Amino acid sequence: MRKHCPIAYSDEMASPLMSKGWVLTRYDQSCEFLQDHRTFSNQSSDDYPVRPWIPQAIDPPHQTAYRRILNPWFTVDAMRPLEPHLEEFADQLVGEMLANDSFDFVAEFADPFPTKIFCELAGFPGDDYEQIMDWKNALMHASDGHSRGYELAAGIARELGFDVSGGRPLLAAEEMAVRGRVGASIYGYLAGLIAQRRAEPRDDMISRLVTAEYEGERPLTEEELEDTLFLFYMAGLDTVASALGLIVQTFATDPAKRHEFIELMDDPTRLDAAIEELVRYHAIVLLPRRVTADTEFHGAKFAQDEGVLCPTMAANRDPEEFDNPDELVFDRVPNRHIGFGLGAHRCIGIHLARRELRVALQTFHRECPD
Ligand code: HEM
Repeated sequence: MRKHCPIAYSDEMASPLMSKGWVLTRYDQSCEFLQDHRTFSNQSSDDYPVRPWIPQAIDPPHQTAYRRILNPWFTVDAMRPLEPHLEEFADQLVGEMLANDSFDFVAEFADPFPTKIFCELAGFPGDDYEQIMDWKNALMHASDGHSRGYELAAGIARELGFDVSGGRPLLAAEEMAVRGRVGASIYGYLAGLIAQRRAEPRDDMISRLVTAEYEGERPLTEEELEDTLFLFYMAGLDTVASALGLIVQTFATDPAKRHEFIELMDDPTRLDAAIEELVRYHAIVLLPRRVTADTEFHGAKFAQDEGVLCPTMAANRDPEEFDNPDELVFDRVPNRHIGFGLGAHRCIGIHLARRELRVALQTFHRECPD
């Protein structure tokens, strides 16, 4: 597509984010697109019946105001105290996993690792982490081959009265019903935690949000608190888990690359570059936007309110920007990938994500090089 039709239109998109619209595949156009938040909005049209995730589904200037509250909590320095906990959790999970003859890396490590860290950072009770993970998997992974996600979603669909038998995939309407049920459970859980922290503040993100002020003018509303926590829940858990799963799968099928990684992973500078390259190569996020006014974009005529999807995995493999894009080159320079996004919404969790990937891959490969 990138070569023959770099800006394509489809009315049969298989993405839950968008059923029809435009798809971008070139790196340079994707960068231009992501940096123009006035023409390409993160906000859904007014008739979309779902509350916006904050700050991801809000445009500047409001998004900027939310980021001003949140940014200081996610700097490199703010993440540093987590390091010993990351190592401790990673050691514990790897130990438990390797105690058995065989293991499922996603279920036993990639999913629980970021979940446990997130619980600690956000202030979710650590003992709830399995429930938290299950909600996330039922919501996000009903139909993409994630075995636990399917099992949970099919169970909820049955509870809702759908006849899901024989392991058949869920229909779109069934999946939406499951999402509605799980979303309501998560929102209820978040509301409970917010109430607890109002009563008894601790040193965690929920407590800080409860006392934060929007532009120094007013406290955040109950809805703003829930919508922010909901986004962090989704963005913080599933991204790192998915990236880890893909990386370890690649290493499992390409032992030479795995050994190349193991050779360099104790050199901090080389490791940082390798992590960036792994995020470029295994980009996982599709970025949807809504066109705010009729616009011509590199020859394509976008109409107001149409959707445009920017798959970061397409941009990150564009040969015009990256030599040998389909190869993992651990010391790639420059490496201006957009795996963490670009522009106003660039990932706020970037320093945490890098740290989690680093510690996870080091710990796992130290114990399990082959
Ligand atoms: C490998 C891991 C990760 C990847 C690849 C990733 C990727 C991304 C991308 C591409 C965006 C841009 C969204 C957009 O433009 O609409 C984003 C935004 C965001 N990410 Fe991440 N992310 C990762 C980890 C995390 C973690 C660990 C957290 C939280 C602790 C997090 C929290 C967020 C939040 C809150 C936003 C919304 C920022 C905004 O709209 O201003 N992410 N992420």
